[in-house]
Amino acid sequence: MSKHILSVDQFKDEDIFDLFNRTDDMLLNGSSYSSLRGKIVGMLFLEPSTRTMSSFAAAVKRLGGDTIGWSGTSHMSMAKGESLEDTIKTMSQYVDIIVLRHSEKGASARAAAVSDVPIINAGDGDGEHPTQALLDLYTIADERNTDKNRHILDQPTTPLTHRDIDGLKILFFGDNKYARTVNSLKKLLGFFEGISMMEENLYFEPESFTGENGGEPIVKQEWDKENFIINLSQADVVYITRLQKERWPTGWHCFSNSASANHYAKYKHINKYIAFNASDLKWLKKDAIILHPLPRTDEMNPEVDSDKRCKIWRQAKNGMFLRMALLKSLLS
Ligand code: NCD
Repeated sequence: MSKHILSVDQFKDEDIFDLFNRTDDMLLNGSSYSSLRGKIVGMLFLEPSTRTMSSFAAAVKRLGGDTIGWSGTSHMSMAKGESLEDTIKTMSQYVDIIVLRHSEKGASARAAAVSDVPIINAGDGDGEHPTQALLDLYTIADERNTDKNRHILDQPTTPLTHRDIDGLKILFFGDNKYARTVNSLKKLLGFFEGISMMEENLYFEPESFTGENGGEPIVKQEWDKENFIINLSQADVVYITRLQKERWPTGWHCFSNSASANHYAKYKHINKYIAFNASDLKWLKKDAIILHPLPRTDEMNPEVDSDKRCKIWRQAKNGMFLRMALLKSLLS
């Protein structure tokens, strides 16, 4: 494994399962480790984040390390025009590793090119989000594993293997065009045998905002619900994502001009109309699971959370253990 974590492409098969074993170890024994004592992790979150930032910070502190960092650029010299490169070069004089979230695809590779310490890509535009995809895959393998100890006692005593993932049928429901977590997870699943990936796409065509029809967004008016139900009834995993409206080439500003009210109404329409609701649960297999990297908006109704197949909070928690495992292997 290279010292930077930029893309899931750099992970070999054995790296994935080694990381999963280490994640299991963190779940069992993490509270007794202090492997990051004396280490400082630089947290540069130049785009909003709740789970990724908190779980990285918690992971560092649980292992005895410390963090410094920034959320957004308004109080950094970037607000005066300093480049990402100079910001990273500076930070890398003070810390042992940098966790970077940025709105531009390729930003973490630019950072890695100048940094004196390892860079972890915590999301770069509509590019990749490798640690999220790894924790998603860990959650899938963990939930599919048949060892009762994992599920009843929360004691992962037998290692996860290919068998826990091979043959998986996954339905991606949401913004499968711009969600970086979907990009990374699809690539990771490419390592496994007999995977079938189905898609229920939920996004505006961005060109519709600037296109020939006078800036009117083209929204999906008809939802092929029958096809959705067929896919849903076959899926082992339903992986839901929100509409990534900040990724559209026209960005948020498509909602902030005079035509915005109309655009926003249509966005709300599609986001409400095409959503995963409790009434859809009846189509789902008994042992299927529902995942969402979060945050959610209207595409997944919170009433789904009480179904035992909904694993979104466990998924979020697993993220902390996996990041503990990753930081320990990179820093100690
Ligand atoms: C995702 C992200 O930032 O890409 N969230 C996360 O890291 N858990 C998903 C999203 O923003 O939709």
